[in-house]
Formats: sequence, structure tokens, C-alpha cells
Amino acid sequence: MKNITLEVSDTPRSLHFDDIYYNVDGGLAEKYYVFIDGNNLPQRFEKLEKNFNLLELGFGTGLSFLLTAIEFNKFDSKYELNFTSTELYPLSFEEIDLALKKWDDLYSNKITKEFLMQYKQKELIKDIKIKLNNVNLHILVGDARETLKSINEKQNCFYLDGFAPSKNPIMWGEEVFSQVKRLSAENSTATTYSVSRLVKDILTFAGFDYSKRKGFGKKREMIIGIKK
Ligand SMILES: C[S@@+](CC[C@H](N)C(=O)[O-])C[C@H]1O[C@@H](n2cnc3c(N)ncnc32)[C@H](O)[C@@H]1O
Repeated sequence: MKNITLEVSDTPRSLHFDDIYYNVDGGLAEKYYVFIDGNNLPQRFEKLEKNFNLLELGFGTGLSFLLTAIEFNKFDSKYELNFTSTELYPLSFEEIDLALKKWDDLYSNKITKEFLMQYKQKELIKDIKIKLNNVNLHILVGDARETLKSINEKQNCFYLDGFAPSKNPIMWGEEVFSQVKRLSAENSTATTYSVSRLVKDILTFAGFDYSKRKGFGKKREMIIGIKK
């Protein structure tokens, strides 16, 4: 099934949700800014005292995952990163390969190469598990409202990246966020681009305090949540 179309400057747009996965103009830098930097991950990875559990809402092209795996590997940690993600419409190998090719440095990184090699061999109809050094990727294939019920490990960090609330209200609804509430460890953090009322309310529902930070580039603001 075709899931994406590539628009001007190769920006991937979902055919299911009519929204973009990221802006190709600075999309990689923006993912790094909002999710990795926004959650203070380099500092947290450096000081790890146990394995780190991270949950992403929306695997998409795997760009945020790969940036995170590459960042984690810089620290040569004796601990593991357990990166769980959710995906209703897994992109085919060809679609992911095409989207990632845009980012020269990332695409030539050995972690990306190994990821693509393993992803190519996976059936995309059930859970996808990929191991890259001490990073364990688990993609829960299906609707996040259901698939999140199957996990129990408390998470230290959340990437809230399920498209804009106006395009995909389900990913910002109580069914998904009652799972985020259940799975969030004390002091876990969550970040996203959107600062809409709906996002603030659903973070509060899940037991997070939130604050605003300067957004990426020309964007005024983004949100960081911390679990009380
Ligand atoms: C903005 S994209 C994610 C971008 C991604 N993090 C990346 O690095 O490319 C949002 C993703 O959420 C997925 N999605 C939307 N609704 C979903 C649902 N109910 N359950 C699971 N995944 C969903 C979409 O298919 C899409 O791949």
C-alpha cells in the first residue's frame, strides 16, 4: 500500500492523514531540537544509572528514532535504550529508504544502514523488533489506542509526534493518553511542537505539568511536559 507522497523538496506527506511527517526545510534539525534536546537527552544519557525507556507516538520514517539511536551510541553506555514506538501504517522499506536518503550524514551512518538492512527483512503486519548495538527498537504495529495496552514498562521519556491534533485528534485523545498516564514514570518528560489548548489539556489529564520553550527556527513556542 502506498502511504506517502513526496512534495516540494521531498517533504513526505501522509496519504492517510493529509499531514506532513516533518518539514524538509530543517526537518532533521527540528526533530533533534524538539525531541532530543527538548527532553534533555544528551545530558540524561551521559548520567544514566539504568536502562532508559522511551516511547514515541508515531514512528513514521524513523527519523527521530535514528537521531536518538545515534545520539545514544555516542556515550558508549553500559546501559540500554529501549525505544518503543507505535505505528498504524508502517511505511514500506522503499518509502523509508526514500525519505531517509534526503539526509546525507544520517543516511550514511552505520546505524542507519544496519537499521535499513534489518527493516527490509521484516513483515510489517506485526510487531517489529530491531536491535542495534545497545538500542532495542520495538514498533507496536496497529492503532496506539489498542497496542499501548500491551506494554507495562514505565517510560522515562515520550515523543508526542502523531501529526497535528487538528489532523489526527485520536492521537491526542483520552484513550491514548490514559496509556501515557499509566506508563509514565515519575519525572518522565514529554515534548511536542504543538502548543494548542488540546495538547495542554491532554498533558494535564495524563498528570504532566507543562511549560513552554522557544520553538524551532521561526516557531514561537513548543511544549515540554514533566510528570508530577
Ligand atoms: C508525524 S508522523 C511521525 C514522524 C516520525 N516520528 C518520524 O520521525 O518520521 C505521525 C505518525 O503517526 C502515525 N499514526 C497516526 N495515528 C496513529 C494511531 N492511531 N496509532 C499509531 N500510529 C498512528 C502515522 O501513521 C504517522 O506515521
